[in-house]
Amino acid sequence: MFRRRHEHFVAAQANGAEVKTIEGLADGDIFHPVQEGFREKHGLQCGYCTPGMIMTAVHLLETNSNPTDDEIKHALEGNICRCTGYVNIVESVKWAAAKMGGKNVSR
Ligand code: FES
Repeated sequence: MFRRRHEHFVAAQANGAEVKTIEGLADGDIFHPVQEGFREKHGLQCGYCTPGMIMTAVHLLETNSNPTDDEIKHALEGNICRCTGYVNIVESVKWAAAKMGGKNVSR
């Protein structure tokens, strides 16, 4: 019962908004730099948390193109990873920020 009400609440909030998902992030076979970063810096293990981590990191880099480690950790703190210990996730986001060179490459 709670879940159903929660879903309606989220849907109402999204009314009229653009919704981005991990499935729409790559441009065909070309990964988004944040996806590349997670691959290059081994920011995932089982992958369960990865979509949330990546989408949160994309949003962070849209609003802060050169975040500090603490800013990355703060942005990602709502996402729980039971595998990685977060070090490689932070390195993945930093790799993406450097690759993006301060540019917004959101698609
Ligand atoms: Fe397994 Fe994050 S990679 S939960």
